[in-house]
Amino acid sequence: MRRVNFAALSRNVSAIGFGCASLGSRVDARRGIAALARAYDAGVCWFDVAPSYGDGHAEALLGDFLEGKRQQVAVCTKVGILPSRVSFPMSIAKPVVQGLIAWLPGLRKHVVKFRSPARAVDLTGAFIESSVVDSLRRLRTDFVDVLALHEPRLADVQRDDVLRSLDKVVSKGYARTIAVAGDLNVALAAATMSQRIRIIQLANNPIRPNVALAKPQLPSGQPMGFVTHSVFGQNGSLDTLASMIAEEADKRSLLEAAGYCLAPREAAAAFLLDYALASNPDGVVLLSMYQPQHLSFDLGRLASSPPPDVVLDVAGRLVATQVCP
Ligand SMILES: NC(=O)c1ccc[n+]([C@@H]2O[C@H](COP(=O)([O-])OP(=O)(O)OC[C@H]3O[C@@H](n4cnc5c(N)ncnc54)[C@H](OP(=O)(O)O)[C@@H]3O)[C@@H](O)[C@H]2O)c1
Repeated sequence: MRRVNFAALSRNVSAIGFGCASLGSRVDARRGIAALARAYDAGVCWFDVAPSYGDGHAEALLGDFLEGKRQQVAVCTKVGILPSRVSFPMSIAKPVVQGLIAWLPGLRKHVVKFRSPARAVDLTGAFIESSVVDSLRRLRTDFVDVLALHEPRLADVQRDDVLRSLDKVVSKGYARTIAVAGDLNVALAAATMSQRIRIIQLANNPIRPNVALAKPQLPSGQPMGFVTHSVFGQNGSLDTLASMIAEEADKRSLLEAAGYCLAPREAAAAFLLDYALASNPDGVVLLSMYQPQHLSFDLGRLASSPPPDVVLDVAGRLVATQVCP
């Protein structure tokens, strides 16, 4: 496993982190814990969770899994979004639905239409403190490495009590450091208002090259680490790029010339992950990897990707030729 010297935590961590958003919701506890174990055994030591993940079950499941391993891993949890409400009929049907999705992953996009939306909270200093204490109890630990404000609004990060509570959370030892996980402009505004913010967590792919956009706008003299997500999933980068490669010969040739001589979907997945790693070389790339074949493919890219400058050059040319919408 490639490791990076992640300055925001003053320690080495795995370049790939495990995203726990589906732990206990799409993915049942047994399959979820097995996936965490496979990733941990392969050297993944960054776990990203939130009170809202897994319909509210992910933190407790991760806490169970981490018993006896806490010192070997970095954990990020969040504050600001509550779990979506699962109706009684849905909770009864859930084990069947989880089994069907594990068998037929394509069903997932239809099932999510029946989920109620996650509930954003108006952040206050008091809420942040009580939320992190609840998270620590569920995670069965006395600190998290990172506490991230979860999709905050601009008004949230401009509140004095919110900014003061971030200092308190660190001084009380609940969190080693603070992140903003969400919109790029809100994260940049928050970083300008508080030197506590040492990590920005955001989507990053050739369609939304947020790390490249953020770097020139960071407050000067404030070191910042990046944790990125949405490599394949959100906004459908994988589907978009795979159909482009399948349908447009010039784009396929561009990727083949860079060494991506694979079937369209596999070439797209390889390129998207290579881009995420190349554009965030000192940070962490979060991935959802519950299926064993995804874990082995994704970790395999660490060893087989072309040089970062080649990957970034191809991404620039793909976007310049409007491969991605
Ligand atoms: N606001 C925030 O802070 C925020 C927002 C979004 C996400 N996140 C974090 O990031 C994590 C990852 O979420 P994401 O949306 O970025 O997901 P993602 O890693 O892009 O994964 C999306 C889907 O792609 C699949 N996949 C993984 N490797 C693949 C491969 N090689 N080929 C084809 N498909 C592959 C995954 O399948 P399986 O999982 O079934 O294997 C998953 O269903 C979340 O769990 C969460 O921790 C944070």
